[in-house]
Amino acid sequence: MIKNLYLIGFMGVGKSTIARALRKRTGWELVDMDALIVRQQGMPVAQIFAEKGEEEFRRIETEILAKISERDHQIISCGGGVPMRRENVRIMKENGICLLLTASPYVILKRVEKDTSRPLLQGKKSIRGISGLIKERMPYYEQACDERVSVNGRTVRMVVDEIVRRMTKRGYTEEETEQTGIVKTEIKSRRAGSENREARAKRGQAGAASCGARTGRDKSGSRGKRNGGD
Ligand code: S3P
Repeated sequence: MIKNLYLIGFMGVGKSTIARALRKRTGWELVDMDALIVRQQGMPVAQIFAEKGEEEFRRIETEILAKISERDHQIISCGGGVPMRRENVRIMKENGICLLLTASPYVILKRVEKDTSRPLLQGKKSIRGISGLIKERMPYYEQACDERVSVNGRTVRMVVDEIVRRMTKRGYTEEETEQTGIVKTEIKSRRAGSENREARAKRGQAGAASCGARTGRDKSGSRGKRNGGD
């Protein structure tokens, strides 16, 4: 069984897009590290870099990585700098598998050309600039990854199929997904049931008899694969 899947790779390679598609395919939770950091800090990544500095951003990144890694069945889209820290690599290896997404500098350039949210790309948006950064990063990425998949010339569907094949080789099964979906659906419907009861209690309508009947219905709640919509 795979505990978590960490998607690593250079900025603009498509980690967030592939992570969203994988969530739909597997029913696992989606965790986007940058989005979590932005929400927690209440400011965009570029502002964190500008006001608190890169070192502080990296500290927050490691803290968040450790926290989310306590849970399982997650597709975790990592910021491009995550594999640069040994501590981060240790956390990822202990809690799942690392899959490296790669793309040519040209493909990456086309994707990040107009982007202003990534401070480390400022002044480097050329084939030469991006190739240089990739060259510096590649040894770290290669050391961290368990699997490697190129996105060059492939559709999202093709990349996702390839990733699921690799996950399957490492013990992932569709049945596991079904079970995860069912457990989550049951928890959700149980929660919804208790919320309804609380609402009825507040309105003064809750009665022991009706509670029993509704509990029965809630327990047999719908079974099915969770379908994360985007
Ligand atoms: C970074 C990548 C970014 C973001 C930050 C630093 C990096 O994430 O975490 O700008 O050092 O490569 P994405 O890879 O999602 O763009």
